[in-house]
Amino acid sequence: MEYKIADRSLAPLGHQKIDWAWRSMPVLNALKKRYEPLQPLKGVKLSACLHLEAKTACLLRVFKALGAEVRAAGSNPLSTQDDICAALVDSGVAVFSHHGMNADEYHENLRHTLAFGPTVIADDGADLVATLVTDMKELIPAVRGASEETTSGVKRLKAMEEQGILPFPIISVNDANSKYLFDNRYGTGQSVWDGFMRTTNSLVAGKVVVIAGYGWCGRGAAMRARALGARVVVTELDPHRAFEAVMDGNEVMTMAQAAPIGDIFLTFTGNIHVIRREHFEVMKDNAILGNAGHFDVEIDKNALADLAVKRDEARVNIETFTLPDGRRINLLGEGRLVNLACGDGHPIEIMDLSFALQLESALYVNEHGRKLENKLMDVPEEIDRRVMVVKLAAAGISLDQLTEEQRAYMADWRED
Ligand code: ADE
Repeated sequence: MEYKIADRSLAPLGHQKIDWAWRSMPVLNALKKRYEPLQPLKGVKLSACLHLEAKTACLLRVFKALGAEVRAAGSNPLSTQDDICAALVDSGVAVFSHHGMNADEYHENLRHTLAFGPTVIADDGADLVATLVTDMKELIPAVRGASEETTSGVKRLKAMEEQGILPFPIISVNDANSKYLFDNRYGTGQSVWDGFMRTTNSLVAGKVVVIAGYGWCGRGAAMRARALGARVVVTELDPHRAFEAVMDGNEVMTMAQAAPIGDIFLTFTGNIHVIRREHFEVMKDNAILGNAGHFDVEIDKNALADLAVKRDEARVNIETFTLPDGRRINLLGEGRLVNLACGDGHPIEIMDLSFALQLESALYVNEHGRKLENKLMDVPEEIDRRVMVVKLAAAGISLDQLTEEQRAYMADWRED
């Protein structure tokens, strides 16, 4: 088997982490048990570009157990964990990734991951799909379909769809209820603060925390920041989201207003240069900046580097930029997603849901892809519901059922 990783001898530590995660993924366990005897992915070549950490390894091992030949690339140089890559290779997954890879290595790894001619794709950020569309068009006809994990990937795929170049049907896992209500909100809400705390060892209570973007991820991070005792400021473009942020107990202002008062800045917008030169110029000494969006574009790193007279590694994953007047601005994890670059990503129990959806979506496009249009589509409702029902059952939670009287009442218009 071809593969390209940092160090195979790291496998035992990787296996330990994967086994620990597997214990708290009841939905993925249940799906494996149900599908393994049927081998529904037999003959499938599956290319994945995902954050290569322990929970992802659980998903990739299930793909393999269901019969697929699996190749995987890491979807971010800093989220790739070398011990996990080694354990995956041990388990028969062909991995092309290492922690800290540069941009050329990253793109070469994507190409290796695709080179065997996949029939199904699992993407996080749409880099595999973008690579096929730009560089490896000859492989497109063999692909039945794909699934996309994240908001930023969906945004790129929508732009492709609008240009009429979406190459095959793609399921937006991100927009399923079982995904964004939990992964984006509670997953990001916890993992961003986990990454922040283990990297900085700083207090959150009493700090002014500036959250850029009040989508589901921003909402989650703001909610947890309030619970930690921070004074939370939200910046938004959308009037309804801005007012929702106010109703939730945050202050809302522009980034220009927030820049001079913030202690901690976190971006959740999916957009470019949300924090930029004019903001760095007025920030307090020792402000800490992190990004939670998929791409490292939300904080204008080049402008920060231009302004700085000195750059130092203050601690692992903290770079301090000293400005001419002596003020220091700290950037976490190179401005890459702070929860994965500075931590292990979302909690296990949350990724159990997201990866159950990824698995079901791969099965769905494998079975139905040829009959579907080249469009971005939602996770089928029955899959979204089933994943949640299994999760609830694993937690011992039962749902009420309608009585016959209630069913009849709901179907009628009369009120007598
Ligand atoms: N772990 C694996 N993939 C992840 C993702 N997209 N977000 C957070 N944690 C993850």
